[in-house]
Amino acid sequence: MTPSDPGYHIPSTPDIFVGRNDFVQEIVSKIHERKHVALIGSGGIGKSSIAKAVMHNKHIVSFFGFHRCFVTYDDVATSMMTHNTFLTHLARALSIADSPLLTIIAKLRASPTLLVIDNAETFLEAGTEDVGRIKGAITELGTVNLFTSFSRPAVPTCQTFAGYGELLVA
Ligand SMILES: Nc1ncnc2c1ncn2[C@@H]1O[C@H](COP(=O)(O)OP(=O)(O)O)[C@@H](O)[C@H]1O
Ligand SMILES: [Mg+2]
Repeated sequence: MTPSDPGYHIPSTPDIFVGRNDFVQEIVSKIHERKHVALIGSGGIGKSSIAKAVMHNKHIVSFFGFHRCFVTYDDVATSMMTHNTFLTHLARALSIADSPLLTIIAKLRASPTLLVIDNAETFLEAGTEDVGRIKGAITELGTVNLFTSFSRPAVPTCQTFAGYGELLVA
């Protein structure tokens, strides 16, 4: 499998995953209702693992197929987070070479896509002038989003969508 293959960037399901299946079921239901979900909780509590388990849920796999996208910004210092970095990582996670926002939107709208944005606080609390543009881009994407974040204010743009759901992981 190469980086341009569909599914290349989908992380594997957690090896050990206990006690969180209620969260997974609830998130899967919200996604099927086309609701955006934010998983909020402190570092290490299991947010990313829940998100990965959601990506491999059989209903999610059968509905979205390869159109499951997991984008993370772990390797970017918050002070270096720019609109361009946001789009570049997103394009890579979507296995597309080009990263203009319109190209990404076209790809996302071509098929129903589940977009997981992991560690949303990385860019939304970056404190750079691009934060507003990044939030605007997320609003324009038009996908069902599952955010993970250790900070609630990191995902305010979700509230512009009807039926936004927030789940606290403890
Ligand atoms: N449900 C679970 N069962 C067992 N181990 C888990 C579970 N959820 C997370 N872990 C483990 O805990 C650690 C932190 O989980 P992670 O999902 O990365 O947390 P977060 O994204 O909230 O920082 C990882 O090593 C992961 O394998
Ligand atoms: Mg995480």
